[in-house]
Amino acid sequence: MNKHSRRRSRSACLAANASSGRAKEKERVNAQPGPAQGPPDARVHLVVGPVGAGKSTFALQLAGASRGVRLTLDEWMTELFRPDRPNTGVVAWYVERAGRCVDRIWHVTEAVLDAGVDVVLEIGLLQRRQRAAFYRRVADRPLTIYVVDAARDVRRERVEQRNRLRGPTFSMVVPPDVFELASDLWEAPEGDECQGRDVRCFRTDAGAGD
Ligand SMILES: Nc1ncnc2c1ncn2[C@@H]1O[C@H](COP(=O)(O)OP(=O)(O)OP(=O)(O)O)[C@@H](O)[C@H]1O
Ligand SMILES: [Mg+2]
Repeated sequence: MNKHSRRRSRSACLAANASSGRAKEKERVNAQPGPAQGPPDARVHLVVGPVGAGKSTFALQLAGASRGVRLTLDEWMTELFRPDRPNTGVVAWYVERAGRCVDRIWHVTEAVLDAGVDVVLEIGLLQRRQRAAFYRRVADRPLTIYVVDAARDVRRERVEQRNRLRGPTFSMVVPPDVFELASDLWEAPEGDECQGRDVRCFRTDAGAGD
């Protein structure tokens, strides 16, 4: 090999390396995740209803049927905050933390929806005002609302029994005064709230309402 051919060979080698470097770079660029194609139809299933109506039982079945991820405020609150529960001022203490949990649950919800998976939410929202704020948040995501209800005396009995037996939907003891307070807070969706929304109502007792 003479001097020129050596030089040519070296520069060919450099060029080959450069082009293989460029190819590798291209591969690297191509290997990066592209913009999400946007699984279009992942749906929010919102389960609401008065205390002890059977929401968690219903949500468990729904999550199975829809292959959705179930996010339940009571479970988050129990796991994260129960050990720190104060002896007094419990309502204000609870409301503040529940708000923070719902914010976080919503961020998780968005991530799960963006991954193309349905979400089954049980996050309280006993009152219309709270649900109105939630609807603003959910914006243009596909949404179905399930209203699960049962007569108050049936619910009271179920909650007493759940307190004792601690079955699969038990998160925390609901004492009688909290049951009555929470039952009084419940406002069923009606009128404007249902207008233009996919609202489905289920009774888990055989009888009429409260
Ligand atoms: N359709 C039903 N028929 C009979 N019992 C039911 C039914 N649904 C739920 N239950 C029972 O009633 C109790 C309360 O149900 P669940 O825990 O699902 O209510 P919840 O609405 O989630 O209550 P909470 O408001 O406290 O979260 C449970 O012990 C459950 O087994
Ligand atoms: Mg529940």
